[in-house]
Amino acid sequence: MDLNQVQDDITKVLVTEAQIAERVEELAKEIDIAYAGKDVLLVGVLKGAVMFMADLSRAIQIPVSMDWMAVSSYGSGTQSSGVVRILKDLDADVLGRHVLIVEDIIDSGLTLSWLKSNLAARGAASVEIVALLRKPEAAKVDVEVMLVGFDIPNEFVVGYGLDYAENYRTLKDVGVLAPQVYS
Ligand code: PRP
Repeated sequence: MDLNQVQDDITKVLVTEAQIAERVEELAKEIDIAYAGKDVLLVGVLKGAVMFMADLSRAIQIPVSMDWMAVSSYGSGTQSSGVVRILKDLDADVLGRHVLIVEDIIDSGLTLSWLKSNLAARGAASVEIVALLRKPEAAKVDVEVMLVGFDIPNEFVVGYGLDYAENYRTLKDVGVLAPQVYS
């Protein structure tokens, strides 16, 4: 979906389609170097990471496998609590493999902090994170992230996989949602 379809709902474009495409290529090159010769499993976190996973995995040149998890954070509304429930687990066994979690956004950091330790406890050879977006001002826990696409301000963002009430995920750019949409 192009921006002009939802222009009234978006106050500002934070990251354009072109900027995302360029950064995805750079991140893929870093991954090619860091994981050359290793057995790599990309783990996408549904649903937000779908677009990023699709583009990043195709930009990566080394052979990698893909798997998916769906998790839900207990909490009030849009705030995550750190207590995470697995809605869909991996099909793959991670034992001895190099796991790279692919996430759309790190907000409080609570989901990824939990996910990282959960996957490490299953005996993965390594567990790292690549996140397209990160909100440093929203961090509640420090999560070590190998690669970040863009640090962004602590605003309600949608697009490129990120939603509000399941809308806007198919928007090609990442933009700030107008307060009138959710208030
Ligand atoms: C978002 C995002 C991360 C999590 C980040 O998922 O994809 O998984 O929240 O928040 P945190 O850093 O505060 O824990 P969401 O629960 O909105 O589900 P979705 O990916 O299906 O939209």
